[in-house]
Amino acid sequence: MGLKKNLNKMNQKIFIKTFGCQMNEYDSNRIFDIVKKIGFHKTENYEDANCYLLNTCHIRDKAKEKVYHEIGRVKKIFKSKIKPMVIVAGCVAQAENEEMLKREPYIDMVIGPQSYHKINNTIKEYFEKKKKKEETEFDPTAKFDYLSKIKNNSGKISSFLTIQEGCDKFCHFCVVPYTRGPEYSRPFNQILDEAKFLVDNGTKEIILLGQNVNAYDNEGNKLSNLILEIEKISGLERVRYTTSHPKDMTEDLIEVYKYSKKLMPLVHLPVQSGSNKILNLMNRKHSINEYLEIFDNLKKINANIEFSSDFIIGYPGEDEKDFKETFDLIKKVKFINSYSFIFSPRPGTVAADLKLIDKKISMQRLEKVQNQLFHNQMTKNRLLENKTLNVLVENLAEDKTQVFGRSEYMTSVIFNGKKSDIGKIVPVKIKQSNRSTLFGEKINNLNQKVA
Ligand code: SAM
Ligand code: SF4
Ligand code: F3S
Repeated sequence: MGLKKNLNKMNQKIFIKTFGCQMNEYDSNRIFDIVKKIGFHKTENYEDANCYLLNTCHIRDKAKEKVYHEIGRVKKIFKSKIKPMVIVAGCVAQAENEEMLKREPYIDMVIGPQSYHKINNTIKEYFEKKKKKEETEFDPTAKFDYLSKIKNNSGKISSFLTIQEGCDKFCHFCVVPYTRGPEYSRPFNQILDEAKFLVDNGTKEIILLGQNVNAYDNEGNKLSNLILEIEKISGLERVRYTTSHPKDMTEDLIEVYKYSKKLMPLVHLPVQSGSNKILNLMNRKHSINEYLEIFDNLKKINANIEFSSDFIIGYPGEDEKDFKETFDLIKKVKFINSYSFIFSPRPGTVAADLKLIDKKISMQRLEKVQNQLFHNQMTKNRLLENKTLNVLVENLAEDKTQVFGRSEYMTSVIFNGKKSDIGKIVPVKIKQSNRSTLFGEKINNLNQKVA
């Protein structure tokens, strides 16, 4: 209480910069929900901030150095001003922990992704004793218990809801099991309560999140049960989930596509490589045939289901034959949307010290893969021209004269809607397209579908 009074008096403003995945976006929003309790307001203008929080990602490239670089930039900006409290959160914070406080004295706090529920106490100690602190234990049960008592004030038409954290799969290239800890599934009812609150406050689409979202299992309740329960919430229009692992694409989840009324027909299912040899070296625990079986089974249920994926190009050991297999898979599956990256060695992972393949070759392969992925995307979008799609309108478009929404496949759609369309599903006739966006006109007869 005393703390709230003290901080309120100072009119604290927090600037939050978020890198990385959707789970980090969810976390940043929840961190704000927490610090709001002790009198913080959000500012979009960093020069205004008394507290600068960086929510970091460690997945690839020079993640750690980027964070120090960003802190250096903040230091410069605030050179002739009062120093803000500087907090580093997220996966780099977890990986580097107290090292960060030693290497960069400008940082005041380091808070890992499973410890941010303690942020108000950490801030309190900093204010009272000027004590710098590092909090990086894995305590997801305490974190989600705490979060369940604080309202999720996303206030967005499309809101994220984390249902699962961490990973036990240990793919040889990936840092997530080390930064997010072991797999943890939130209690079923806790998730339903958060979902209901979101919908009561305007959310129309819920995107269920987890590093391995389809490994969700709480006392026998699986992701399939959760989807069917969540979609009973009146006022909710759409349900999505991400990111899935092929190994956890179980029969019950595939069957949900037969019965669900609100689950969207887009499956983000990262395959990483088209070569069984490389999948084995990556410790992915699934084969290409198993992946294609999932694809076939889902297409049998609904031929309009589309797939998106992630690819790692130039993994150590990838030869021309392996690369060709990846390329052939892309041509075969015609993913609607995909992310592709060159392999980036992560400290502490099994693949960290493997012999890298020639950088020029990796670059050439990435370019080839991306050209094909983009070609597929563009072709699919062009086929939608003159068709009518149901678009969930999220907000005004940048130019403020049009509106922005998403198709059932998550594709961005911009059209001549009104502010009053926000939160509604509107039929839009597509007139034009590019690789990532569809442009259209609102039509007035409802319930027309593309399929
Ligand atoms: N759990 C998901 C799965 O099993 O596919 C992936 C989650 S990971 C946060 C997101 C993506 O980052 C991965 O699918 C992978 O393509 C990419 N990624 C992870 N580690 C990488 C690395 N060391 N180098 C390049 N890309 C990487
Ligand atoms: Fe990383 Fe593999 Fe776990 Fe996905 S399944 S988070 S790629 S270790
Ligand atoms: Fe990055 Fe951590 Fe997400 S490493 S991708 S922020 S789980």
